[in-house]
Amino acid sequence: MTPSVSKSGAGYTVRTDRTVLRPWQQSDLDPFAELNVDAEVMRYFESALTSEQSNRLARCFIAHFETRGFGFWALEIPGVTSFAGFVGLAEISFAAAFTPAVEIGWRLARPLWGHGYATEAARGAARFGFDVLRLAEIVAYAVPSNVRSRIVMDRIGMLRDPAADFEHPAVPAGHPLRRHVLYRLKAPT
Ligand SMILES: CC(C)(COP(=O)(O)OP(=O)(O)OC[C@H]1O[C@@H](n2cnc3c(N)ncnc32)[C@H](O)[C@@H]1OP(=O)(O)O)[C@@H](O)C(=O)NCCC(=O)NCCS
Repeated sequence: MTPSVSKSGAGYTVRTDRTVLRPWQQSDLDPFAELNVDAEVMRYFESALTSEQSNRLARCFIAHFETRGFGFWALEIPGVTSFAGFVGLAEISFAAAFTPAVEIGWRLARPLWGHGYATEAARGAARFGFDVLRLAEIVAYAVPSNVRSRIVMDRIGMLRDPAADFEHPAVPAGHPLRRHVLYRLKAPT
């Protein structure tokens, strides 16, 4: 199904069969902090987040929407939950061999894993990136052991570019989570 896109003052909303990618609301902050403190959700990050760090991250996402008109959307699953996590697109803020680039990313609360929501919403976000933003390419990255995330990349048709594996500059040298693999998705021709 082709996702539907609408625009309001707060930004774009993308709807797929079961998911809604929508602008952030104040009421998302508490459930966002809840998922960011969950050790299983944050297993492939340096640490879980305090609620202050979580709120700061949400503010960064909102600022990205305000300056670029797109970003990591709040993910709603109608009939299930008004906030499942985030899925979306963002300009990569660090320098690497593959930047400047727009990345696709996702993070869902643990009870919402295993339903295909991340993959479905990511397909909608990628389609938005190509149809509305006219991107030529979208990238994604993960630590090699983050298999669930890499499977979402595979499922949406991304291809790993082994030559572009990199050390994440925000992770300290020598840290086991510093090495990342890079995936690419080209715009359909
Ligand atoms: C990465 C992440 C979003 C993936 O979540 P996920 O639940 O594995 O992925 P999906 O939502 O696409 O669900 C796929 C699963 O739903 C199942 N599924 C059930 N009903 C389905 C349906 N109707 N349609 C499609 N899949 C369905 C699939 O078979 C698959 O099951 P499996 O896990 O047994 O293989 C999640 O693990 C997460 O938030 N991780 C923490 C944050 C993180 O690491 N982010 C990425 C950083 S790089």
